[in-house]
Amino acid sequence: MEYYVLTLFPDMIREGMNTSIIGRAIENDVISLEAINIRDYTQNKHGRTDDYPYGGGAGMVMQAQPIYDAYRSIIDRLDYRPMVVYMTPQGRVFDQQMAQELALQKGLIFLCGHYEGVDERVLDEMDVLPVSIGDFVLTGGELPAMCMIDAISRMIPGVLHNEESAEDDSFGDGLLEFPQYSRPEVWRGREVPKILLSGDHAKVDAWRREQSLMRTADRRPDLLLTAAISPKEQDFVKKYLAKKEDL
Ligand code: ADE
Repeated sequence: MEYYVLTLFPDMIREGMNTSIIGRAIENDVISLEAINIRDYTQNKHGRTDDYPYGGGAGMVMQAQPIYDAYRSIIDRLDYRPMVVYMTPQGRVFDQQMAQELALQKGLIFLCGHYEGVDERVLDEMDVLPVSIGDFVLTGGELPAMCMIDAISRMIPGVLHNEESAEDDSFGDGLLEFPQYSRPEVWRGREVPKILLSGDHAKVDAWRREQSLMRTADRRPDLLLTAAISPKEQDFVKKYLAKKEDL
């Protein structure tokens, strides 16, 4: 996977992505990441990349020309055209399924907006996919782009090592993950659930599955509508919720 990030703050991207698992994947050439400074492509003699909005109103608008030239500097040296993801609170909301789908791409270009927005014409010209990371407004698209790069990269073979396996993750099967415990067996009087010490793998798996179901029912009941759960498990959830009602 090749990531290209069009931004006015390339250092934010480079600094944010050079540590931990993503930093290691870049170091090992499993993925590559290039942050392109839009300002390097402006034709304005004062280095400006934004201007007042036609029609008036508050804030500034990022101009088309520097963004487009920065974009062309990428695609003109590639023999394929990567999808362009435009980070905006007005986009489709990013989720695990989109991460899985985008992980199949050969390359991705992220456009990070700032100020009041980006001249609509350059978005049309680049045929962008508008994506939001949630219903809140950030000061720029850099953090959202980094969130997406992190979530997508975890889905790429070779990025996670065995001990970091994505298999049991929350959302893998549409459910939240079960609770985890490590040493010591008793901490501040709180005991590790006995079943986890039993060595009975079938029982542990069954317990964890129930925990996932209960946790999802408690915290994200909306996920149960689309999660891959059996009729028996649906019954379990119903009984669990009914019992909670009684308390
Ligand atoms: N830019 C500002 N807020 C954003 C959000 N929530 N998602 C994506 N890009 C953004």
